[in-house]
Amino acid sequence: MSWYHKKSIYQIFPRSFYDSNGDGIGDLIGIIQKLDYIKDMGFETIWISPFYTSPQKDFGYDISDYYNVSPEYGTLRDLEQLIIEAHAREIRVVFDIVMNHTSDQHPWFLESKSSRDNPKADWYIWRDKPTNWKSIIGPKGWHYCKERNQYYFASFFPFQPDLNFWNPEVKKTMFDVCRFWLSEGVDGFRLDIFNCIIKDKEFRDNPFDPFHLVPTKEHPGGFFQIRKYSLNQPENFVLAKELRKVADEFNGPPRLLVGEVFGSHKTIRKYLGEQDGLHLVFLFDILFYKFSAKFFRKKILEYEHYYPLPHVPTVVFSNHDQLRSIGIINGNMEKAKLLALTQYMMRCIPIVYYGEEIGMTSGDIPLKEARDYLPKFFNWVPQFVADLLPVALNRDVSRTPMQWNTNKNAGFSAADTTWLPVNKDVEDRNVAEQLLDKDSLLYVYRALNRLRRDHESIQSGTIEVIQTGNDNILAFTRTFEDEKLLILLNFSKSKIKNTLTETVKEVLYALKAEVTDSSECILQGYGGIVLKI
Ligand code: NOJ
Repeated sequence: MSWYHKKSIYQIFPRSFYDSNGDGIGDLIGIIQKLDYIKDMGFETIWISPFYTSPQKDFGYDISDYYNVSPEYGTLRDLEQLIIEAHAREIRVVFDIVMNHTSDQHPWFLESKSSRDNPKADWYIWRDKPTNWKSIIGPKGWHYCKERNQYYFASFFPFQPDLNFWNPEVKKTMFDVCRFWLSEGVDGFRLDIFNCIIKDKEFRDNPFDPFHLVPTKEHPGGFFQIRKYSLNQPENFVLAKELRKVADEFNGPPRLLVGEVFGSHKTIRKYLGEQDGLHLVFLFDILFYKFSAKFFRKKILEYEHYYPLPHVPTVVFSNHDQLRSIGIINGNMEKAKLLALTQYMMRCIPIVYYGEEIGMTSGDIPLKEARDYLPKFFNWVPQFVADLLPVALNRDVSRTPMQWNTNKNAGFSAADTTWLPVNKDVEDRNVAEQLLDKDSLLYVYRALNRLRRDHESIQSGTIEVIQTGNDNILAFTRTFEDEKLLILLNFSKSKIKNTLTETVKEVLYALKAEVTDSSECILQGYGGIVLKI
């Protein structure tokens, strides 16, 4: 099995990770300065959210030059250095690439919108008469442009016009952007809204559905519309295979493609092809987990059904678009440790969002003070309603500065003010203090990364769910050749005794748990154990 199906991923939001030059904004040199921390934690791959030149209206997801670095993040030299330094520590580097759209300030769009007959006139999706397609965040998808007296389509924000991938020149240009970074040594890409890229060639209207106000997994987008012709088009699955060929053009270790795609499992697994498409897709359902053995049991079975070997599912609890999911368990650190253990023992690529390893909670930034653009669409929602929602209307809350210590600005920056305020929970949750406490959440992640690295059965073994007679225990085995592990996880707050029928060769990891001489396994509340049997 190749590295991309084995190694853990750590997501860095560069603006918020570490500020090396005291301007209140995280930067590339800041990431370099923290590589030893990442290495020591044992994370094997870093995925860096966009740092390219951008007006930053969507904090980098609106790119105006794919070949350059936004000045607040540093220079191309810093980027080269980052790749070199990461590789020197055997950390792989994955860039975030936004192929679906550019910024409306990108020279391509400025040219395209200037007239109907310029050389780039067909680089974006223009229509005299718009279809009924909505964007994926709900409101209208088409926007009027007076220069052309036409409408352009945007899957996300209005200042992010979608490129027209039916134009072969556009596709080639974007693939060349990928080739450029791959030749610079980047180990792969996280592909932003990859499932939006190709839209129906015939511009058919999407069906109206009175029952879909709220987006669902089957029908993302909501707002009474099934995105039948604007999402997950068959040509998108083909595009995945074409991009895979581009990634495979390069020598050395294979390059990783992980797609941000959404829809039913049946649909999104098509992006993987027969191992000739993307290597991984994000599975977002666990972001909204229930803290129960039953929930995870079901997920394991579901993932095995849709993503059987040789495919590998991803398990992600938090990212830069959603509330930090420790909120679901009210910030409880003991439960967070069990979740980390569950994530790392499942057959998956674990993806950890910066700060998750210290249990950072979502910041407390009102909609009205948001730097994020998303709240502009939802300014009619009262704050108290927004606070009750399971999704982030203001994504700033999950992007607050990394909490390194209890010094000024949580050790993130020497500036007087930081781009977003430091979260209030810094006293309780920061790296420095957890490094001093061997029982901390940080140490759990650190141990789990090592455990995973050292055991092929965890990285690539099969998984089998087993019954223990107690519904609060999630129990499964992981097997690779003659190595077999038994994992028992207690999702209840009470102590559970479990009689073991197998001979225990070794206790590989114990979280508030032990095996007694009489072959009994005692799991304290929220305890878990990994046994070699
Ligand atoms: C998905 C990204 O995760 C999000 O942060 C961004 O705003 C949109 N795509 C648009 O690029």
